[in-house]
Amino acid sequence: MNLSSRHEPARRLGVGILGAGPVTQAIHLPALARLRNILEVRHIMDVDESVAESVAARVGAAASNSLDALLADPRVDIVAICSPHQFHAEQVIAACKAGKKAVLCEKPFAMNAEEAARISAVSAETGVPIVVGAMHTFDPGWLAAEQAWGDFPEQVHTIRSSIVLPPNARFEDFATEIITRPAAAQPDYSDIEVIKDMLRGGIMGLAIHDLPLVRRFTPDFDQIEVLQARHVRPFGYVVSLRTPSRTIELRAAMNDTWKPEWSFEAFSDDEALRIDFTPSYVQAGSAVATFTRGTVTTSFGPYDHNGYEGEWRELAALAAGAKQPPSAKTLIDDLTFALDIAEATAARADADHAAREGASA
Ligand SMILES: NC(=O)c1ccc[n+]([C@@H]2O[C@H](COP(=O)([O-])OP(=O)(O)OC[C@H]3O[C@@H](n4cnc5c(N)ncnc54)[C@H](O)[C@@H]3O)[C@@H](O)[C@H]2O)c1
Repeated sequence: MNLSSRHEPARRLGVGILGAGPVTQAIHLPALARLRNILEVRHIMDVDESVAESVAARVGAAASNSLDALLADPRVDIVAICSPHQFHAEQVIAACKAGKKAVLCEKPFAMNAEEAARISAVSAETGVPIVVGAMHTFDPGWLAAEQAWGDFPEQVHTIRSSIVLPPNARFEDFATEIITRPAAAQPDYSDIEVIKDMLRGGIMGLAIHDLPLVRRFTPDFDQIEVLQARHVRPFGYVVSLRTPSRTIELRAAMNDTWKPEWSFEAFSDDEALRIDFTPSYVQAGSAVATFTRGTVTTSFGPYDHNGYEGEWRELAALAAGAKQPPSAKTLIDDLTFALDIAEATAARADADHAAREGASA
């Protein structure tokens, strides 16, 4: 062995980021800063060049406002897509076609089933592994419980996801100094179309983090029915669902309370799983999972890192060829499940609204 090479650090993998908004600034860059022995941010692209430049300057990366320039940068091995939802599908496809080693796409990775099928075809054709930013599925607390729960998913009959959060901006400001943030307009809560959009947005933007977990416990996920769909002010939802074998409740409230809570629960007749996740923008280690079987309770965690860091570790392993990529079918089934719930939730709200209007006429 060549003695000089024995002391050289292993080659770090280069990261390029498309979209330098709050999720990049407040979530991914802090996670990547802790992994700088294996990953290096080399290129940041945003359609707003001044945002790209200021965010890139924080980490010593190149900046551009062009997708093609980032994809053509040979120092970029892994591409992270952190632009708004509607650009995800095209950017994932372009990154796969550019022959990159791995792609992280922020959730949701597509906005409809047709886009998802196109991504799946390109991923199969190019062999580029894709990770979707459903960070809770990479949380070491969840992963440790999964190792231990045996046949629990088949026995579960009730599932609950509860989220109470201050508005994102409050957390983002704790995490970093955000460079741009569009002003939000006051929604017209009397307009059912606005309520439907907010419900769809709540499912595709917030519940979507836990829907892969819910689906893990719902074998008949393709037979989902929405029983109740309520919007919660200023932003949130209460959605009750059922399949032939499961009862599911999704709750979220983003309000001005100070105490965040993000829990996932599943119950069978004699077993219960509860997972308390750390809030997204707070780098506070992993979730804690508590699994109770009869009278015996076992806890998993907290571990030293959260699901975002877990995603990046997974990407580094995939890009290095040290792990098998996740199946495209899982990603598509997760997305289809979320899209079906979002549409059925909006339809339920619409039907309830029409019934109320009819009753008051
Ligand atoms: N996993 C999580 O916890 C989490 C948290 C927040 C946001 N997100 C996701 O991340 C994505 C980005 O959200 P955000 O909060 O950063 O806010 P955002 O969508 O407002 O900001 C995104 C940035 O992308 C830039 N942009 C716009 N069009 C672009 C394009 N075509 N190519 C590249 N950049 C473009 C904008 O100028 C802006 O700076 C969203 O899809 C959101 O769902 C995930």
